[in-house]
Amino acid sequence: MSELKERIRIVEVGPRDGLQNEPTPIPVATRIALIEDLVMAGIRHIECGSFVSPKWVPQMANTAEVCQQLSRQSDTIYSVLTPNMKGLEQAIEAQVNEVAVFGAASETFSQKNINCTIAESLQRFAPVVTQAKQQGLRVRGYVSCVVGCPYEGDISPAQVAPVVEQLLDLGCDEISLGDTIGIGTPSTVKPLLNLVIPITGIGKLAVHFHNTYGQALVNIYQALNQGIRIVDSAIAGLGGCPYAKGASGNVATEDVTYLVESLGFDTGLKLSKLIDISQQLCDQLGRPNRSHVAQALSTTLRKK
Ligand code: HMG
Ligand code: MG
Repeated sequence: MSELKERIRIVEVGPRDGLQNEPTPIPVATRIALIEDLVMAGIRHIECGSFVSPKWVPQMANTAEVCQQLSRQSDTIYSVLTPNMKGLEQAIEAQVNEVAVFGAASETFSQKNINCTIAESLQRFAPVVTQAKQQGLRVRGYVSCVVGCPYEGDISPAQVAPVVEQLLDLGCDEISLGDTIGIGTPSTVKPLLNLVIPITGIGKLAVHFHNTYGQALVNIYQALNQGIRIVDSAIAGLGGCPYAKGASGNVATEDVTYLVESLGFDTGLKLSKLIDISQQLCDQLGRPNRSHVAQALSTTLRKK
């Protein structure tokens, strides 16, 4: 009898973190098809968009239409970003089952991204989390710039830990640590996780690596070795943050799947389907595919 493999939960952030950085707005129908296709490929936790100011991030306008017109699977978490009560109200109306608040370990990034200090952001998040929980929604809490900030440089684990603690105190179910500018290496990720894991417990902590310096996979390997089992990624390595200039995309979902499956974990994902989706999307967007695995396997898999 084959041994039951340990599951890695991949949180697909491409339709949000990926598309929020595209130079031209993506039609609602394309956003919906992408989400539905990714769920068909086995994704069970997916970010569908953001309820943020369309003046700040025009690419995420029409997230309400995306959520409303989506065909949903009952076993899947459909998530959106909600920075304030206005965002939460739209999320409740759109009947998602998870919202995410997003803070930072860097004061300057917090100002640039959500126009307030870290302390003010936590005050804003408090009613968002409380009301979301009352509505029966799951709540994710992001911390950005966990190892480095585009404005302030190095960020220490000691700057991250209090933000994590406060997000948990507010009632967040899960914390995702964002290396927004992809600057981390195992030498900075290891001490960060050593400090944060005892605060959250292993089951509540996710890692969110951008791949700007090409270090995301090695950082994920480091995190897996420290017990992390929730990993954020974006199809085709799409993305970046509009308020972190030069930050490139998230680690590609295809590359994470290839790595963790080869290590003996189960993702529930069909790699060949992911690659079809990612190639199709890149053709549509007219951009190169940032997934190495997709580039390597697309031709052979398409022939099957
Ligand atoms: P503000 O200007 O301080 O907000 O922005 P405000 O309350 O003064 O409102 C200004 C205007 O925005 C008003 O409209 C509001 O109605 C509107 P006006 O009267 O001028 O026409 N507004 C909204 N509209 C729609 N939905 C809302 C909303 N709230 C206000 N929820 C605010 C503050 C937070 C709204 C703004 O800074 C913002 O939208 N920021 C979004 C930034 C963002 O989305 N960044 C990217 C996501 S974070 C990320 O990528 C990092 C992550 O991936 C992890 C990692 O990699 O590290 C998560
Ligand atoms: Mg991100």
